[in-house]
Amino acid sequence: MSAFDPGKEVPRHIAIIMDGNGRWAAARGLPRRDGHRAGADSVEEVLRSCRELGVKYLTLYAFSSENWKRPESEINALMGLLAHFLREKTPTLMRNNIRLQVIGHIEKLPARNQRQLAESIAMTAKNDGLTLIVALSYGSREEIVDAAKELMKKAKAGELDPDALDVETFGRHLYTAGLPDPDLLIRTSGECRVSNFLLWQISYAEIVITDVFWPDFRRPHLEAAIGEYQRRHRRFGGL
Ligand code: FPP
Repeated sequence: MSAFDPGKEVPRHIAIIMDGNGRWAAARGLPRRDGHRAGADSVEEVLRSCRELGVKYLTLYAFSSENWKRPESEINALMGLLAHFLREKTPTLMRNNIRLQVIGHIEKLPARNQRQLAESIAMTAKNDGLTLIVALSYGSREEIVDAAKELMKKAKAGELDPDALDVETFGRHLYTAGLPDPDLLIRTSGECRVSNFLLWQISYAEIVITDVFWPDFRRPHLEAAIGEYQRRHRRFGGL
């Protein structure tokens, strides 16, 4: 990895697949939920660091549509962490001018989480510093199918000419409508997979995979990933 250069361009939008919480816990003889709890501390530090570094959008893959297959106790632990985060950190989001958004089928989440999310999203809606986008019950293929359904309904109603459909119009029907595509995708814990995350939106993203488990991921690791992005950008970027 290359060193981070504060004088060079920082990615406008960073997306992260936070992986390795379970393995981090197993390596310490701890239950998996302790790995998720430690992972929540990484969320805080990365959020703070992104704000300080001038990143404008941060998207975190917190719960995939496939994660519903996990044991109920683990799902409950993750939803509890989300509830705790929203309760404790919404004032911090306000203080730091951070806007919260979500992508995914949040209607599948427990009612308490849905309520808290709606409140925090409404409360932070006018903040214009960093935008934190949390992917919850999210699956990229489902997102693309949802967009296709909406477009087909519009075509059927005569509101859209199928021949006029283009990349921009399609993009406006994704959950991420109005958000710029990620410039940098980071995945922790060494797995070289995209796992149904933002398949459309990462078309041109630089991908950085680090062996570090998510609960160990701290500002120096974020800076190293940005340094790698800056190096690639310098070598392969435009004119
Ligand atoms: C992947 O590790 C991690 C997750 C499925 C959940 C990520 C969630 C958090 C960090 C909790 C807090 C989030 C917010 C937004 C407050 P894994 O369980 O797949 O790990 P493994 O591959 O080692 O088993």
